[in-house]
Amino acid sequence: MKILVVGSGGREHAIAWRLANDPVRHELYCAPGNAGTAAVAINVPVGAEDVGAIAKWARENNPDLVVVGPEAPLVKGLVDELTKLGIPSFGPVAAGARMEGSKRFAKEVMRAAGVPTGMAEVFTDPVAAKAALAKFGLPVVIKADGLAAGKGVVVAETAAEAEAAIDDMLVANKFGAAGAEVLVEEFLDGEECSILAMTDGENVVLLPSSQDHKRIFDGDKGPNTGGMGAYSPAPVVTADMLPEIKDKIVVPVVRELKKRGIVYRGILYAGLMIAPQGGKVALSGSRINVVEFNARFGDPETEAVLPRLGGDFSKALLHAATGRLEDGDIVVKDEVAATVIVASGGYPGSYEKGKPISGLERAGEVATVFHCGTKKGENGETVTSGGRVLSVTGCGANLREAVDRAYAGVARVSFDGMFYRRDIAHRAFERG
Ligand SMILES: Nc1ncnc2c1ncn2[C@@H]1O[C@H](COP(=O)(O)OP(=O)(O)O)[C@@H](O)[C@H]1O
Ligand SMILES: [Mg+2]
Repeated sequence: MKILVVGSGGREHAIAWRLANDPVRHELYCAPGNAGTAAVAINVPVGAEDVGAIAKWARENNPDLVVVGPEAPLVKGLVDELTKLGIPSFGPVAAGARMEGSKRFAKEVMRAAGVPTGMAEVFTDPVAAKAALAKFGLPVVIKADGLAAGKGVVVAETAAEAEAAIDDMLVANKFGAAGAEVLVEEFLDGEECSILAMTDGENVVLLPSSQDHKRIFDGDKGPNTGGMGAYSPAPVVTADMLPEIKDKIVVPVVRELKKRGIVYRGILYAGLMIAPQGGKVALSGSRINVVEFNARFGDPETEAVLPRLGGDFSKALLHAATGRLEDGDIVVKDEVAATVIVASGGYPGSYEKGKPISGLERAGEVATVFHCGTKKGENGETVTSGGRVLSVTGCGANLREAVDRAYAGVARVSFDGMFYRRDIAHRAFERG
């Protein structure tokens, strides 16, 4: 098949790499891609968010399938445009991407579908929002409705913190339009995990569970990042939970969207909170609650999940894009995977770019190295071009093996100022 992958991060490299490992040969393109995708696909110099330019490329090159990585082009309606051209596309139409783009909309859909999630109320008036705080107790969660680059959620331990967050969003307009509506939400206790569900708008297949590490420093300290590592499966998700997640969460949401005229195709990523044994029960009464939905593969979860998939991945993606998804389309290997993000010093604050990276080939002998923020320098060498630079994945018979292989890979790469967490998967190890 002729396939275009849209995006330029570790997620897109992992998608292109997985497709390159299919039993059938594909003609692969990546827009715009990075130095890593260039090894498995032809990079197309078109920005991932440039909907018009990607649609133009697709019209001229007529791919059999377009796989959209990031949320921004989905929200901007890339899949709507490609669908008009008759090009099968993996990813929801803009109306479906609102599940990620608007937390208020996601709550509405969940409420209508009877899906367990934190109880929430929506406000545009700061006075009313503050007045409502008392009934939520503490901690309480304050959320901007729209996309805020991972910075629009505050878990407030005190009323003063909650009020300050409300003022930031509704008075100071810190997030612009994305914060024009604010959700005050019940705090959910427990451990988080990610379930990537693949759907064709009707049928649903769950990919293996995973867990990511959002904070920059070991022990989950310091500011939030795009994700510093991940592993799959997440032991907090036990086998008995999977049918519940599918039948009580993902399927009802997909059905509810369909009822509203939205055929949701692609990945519906459920961020879940699993309540601790004997802990405080959520108002929903369920031990599994939805924290949020995303409309695409997670990054870096994808770099830990896709290496575990066998079979013909292109078939699964095409079937989801064309309404023919079946259980057998996803084949999971009996392996565990862990991925460690190698970042630029200073990230998630300011950092330098253009640092030459050495040891990539040797790292590739012991682990799979996905590129997140790299490009080719003037002399053809690979240089850093982002905060998250590499995602180094190890696979093994168990988590210890997988993590050790990932870190063995990390030990072989180097660039000026490189930084990474040393405790990826610590929660799983603590469970024993
Ligand atoms: N209701 C909640 N209870 C407890 N923690 C929450 C709740 N909602 C969000 N969080 C925490 O805040 C993080 C970010 O919230 P999320 O809804 O995923 O927004 P986004 O990813 O868009 O920033 C979550 O990963 C979780 O750690
Ligand atoms: Mg999130």
